[in-house]
Amino acid sequence: MSKYPYQISSFEDYQRQYKKSVENPEEFWAEIATNFQWKQPWNNVLKWDFRSAKTEWFSGAKLNITENCLDRHVLTQPDTPAIIWEPNNPEDHHRVLTYRELHFKVMQFANALKNHGVKKGDRVCIYMGMIPELAIAVLACARIGAIHSVIFGGFSAQSIADRIQDAQASAVITCDGAFRGNKSIPLKEVIDDALMSCPSVKTVIVCTHTRTPVSMIKGRDFWWEDEIKKVETQGNPYCEAESMDAEDELFILYTSGSTGKPKGVVHSTAGYMVWANYTFVNVFQYQPGQVHFCTADIGWITGHSYIIYGPLSAGATSLMFEGIPTYPDAGRFWDIIEKYKLEILYTAPTAIRSLMGFGDEPLKNRDFSNLKVLGTVGEPINEEAWNWYNEKIGHNNCPIVDTWWQTETGGVLISNLAGVTPAKPTFATYPLPGVQPVLVDENGNEILGNGVSGNLCIKFPWPGIIRTTYGDHERCRTTYFSAYDNLYFTGDGCLRDEDGMYRITGRVDDVLNVSGHRIGTAEVENAINMHAGVVESAVVGYPHDIKGQGIYAYVIYTGTHGDVNLTRQDILATVSRVIGPIAKPDKIQFVSGLPKTRSGKIMRRILRKIAEGEIGNLGDTSTLLDPMIVDEIKEGRL
Ligand code: PRX
Repeated sequence: MSKYPYQISSFEDYQRQYKKSVENPEEFWAEIATNFQWKQPWNNVLKWDFRSAKTEWFSGAKLNITENCLDRHVLTQPDTPAIIWEPNNPEDHHRVLTYRELHFKVMQFANALKNHGVKKGDRVCIYMGMIPELAIAVLACARIGAIHSVIFGGFSAQSIADRIQDAQASAVITCDGAFRGNKSIPLKEVIDDALMSCPSVKTVIVCTHTRTPVSMIKGRDFWWEDEIKKVETQGNPYCEAESMDAEDELFILYTSGSTGKPKGVVHSTAGYMVWANYTFVNVFQYQPGQVHFCTADIGWITGHSYIIYGPLSAGATSLMFEGIPTYPDAGRFWDIIEKYKLEILYTAPTAIRSLMGFGDEPLKNRDFSNLKVLGTVGEPINEEAWNWYNEKIGHNNCPIVDTWWQTETGGVLISNLAGVTPAKPTFATYPLPGVQPVLVDENGNEILGNGVSGNLCIKFPWPGIIRTTYGDHERCRTTYFSAYDNLYFTGDGCLRDEDGMYRITGRVDDVLNVSGHRIGTAEVENAINMHAGVVESAVVGYPHDIKGQGIYAYVIYTGTHGDVNLTRQDILATVSRVIGPIAKPDKIQFVSGLPKTRSGKIMRRILRKIAEGEIGNLGDTSTLLDPMIVDEIKEGRL
């Protein structure tokens, strides 16, 4: 008998569970929810109305997610490692935090936050490197009911300021710096720049890591270590877990859309917890004692759900890695797999493609015999990368789960279940119980049958669905629930094959997926246009061997400073400053005009085709204001 009574054990079991989840969703999820720790039971399992973008799961219930992630395991398995931390530099010491130790540290830091007046409902921005204190900070917020908003270390001061202002965060938790390969990122310095325009922030707690010199402003900035000492002298190590309503907000995570500024995706407590846990246990078929290595950064949803909340709520051991796959060399992941005798590796196709490029040498004489499950996430995986992963890492012996999901979905929606349901290269395959995908055409008509393609929507809520976009519910409604009546629209194109298996083909909106990171074209354009000499720009994606998609920018430029290459560098520096290094275009082509319709709309379709190199087949260009511009752009293609 599995430790997890809801762990699906065979394809037939999957089919049974799936059917039940569709026919009787409330009973299905109520049964699963009994496996968690509640302070008070729910009144309703589910209340929903897609037309107003409202969903509530387990409303009326009271709980704290950290009691589910920590306290209950401290009682039954206190000495199980909860987090194993592998540092950036392999020569530095790794750290192991058992459930008992993690619980203790979370309560200590939660008390430190309380000492600074942080309370239930307050927003706390977390901008840290991948060190255990990041997980501790996240859980400490959840402990006292503060809403965390983690920001990835690759975002600039300006991006951080936008997010802090949007959330009106009152506290920031950061580090002096972070290590990434042979670089060190001055996190506190970036925060200092951001805070010049964030009057809502009253407290900054700085954890020492790189021990680079930082400015510490009296009355605002405090060292993490000092705050912990204060808590120690106060004597009481216990911190009561705040009683949260099922629908109380757990966190905000900003993500890019096709228009405007990034939006704060909000997840609430109970539904998210159940979904992160259920999907973790089922997709990876986690067995007690196994070590799970999710290589994502906690600044993205994958890290939230599959480094922290999914594994810890299941009492699993989660490996957290500070560094990058190619430092000090391209064998780093393989070293880690050997060192900790890992059973599960969950990474992105970009990492796989990049490591594939180093050939077989880094793989020689490696012992992968403990590996049981491989996973991918974040972008479509091409067949070549899938085969390499399967043969060279899995030795044809480990199921690969191709997990499709989004920041907004909280956890995996479509994926095979490792070794339990069939896999098919490049296909996410079948929906998890509770997930009802539909394909629709441009007019919103459902496309029935198999062997068809369309836009992917979901017609029924699952527990981890987005609850709102922070401070602007209307934006949530229009973005996800208004494109098609009574459906959640994913923004992805999708194919359903003859066996009813799903294959996600990529975004159908103006969102790019660069190395598994989501970036809006409008956002990049706005950043480029901030550069003094730029008149206008248009950004599209193009196929990139390693990153999946690269960023191609067409720029109308009138400045006269230095040569073209210098100007390109200036524009890249501008984008880095406005958004962050992750949004820097791979190619910048200077043009004298952009192809526009007579009503002034940029014809992105044409620009996309040119960037993709399909210049022979541009379709109808006769409706353009200035068809000649297309020839110029074609000739200047990079
Ligand atoms: O286009 C899909 C792609 O990533 C998008 C979601 O990005 P984000 O919210 O940043 O979350 C990434 C991690 C869950 C989706 O709309 N995507 C994600 N997983 C897959 C994928 N595309 C193809 N196959 C996947 N397995």
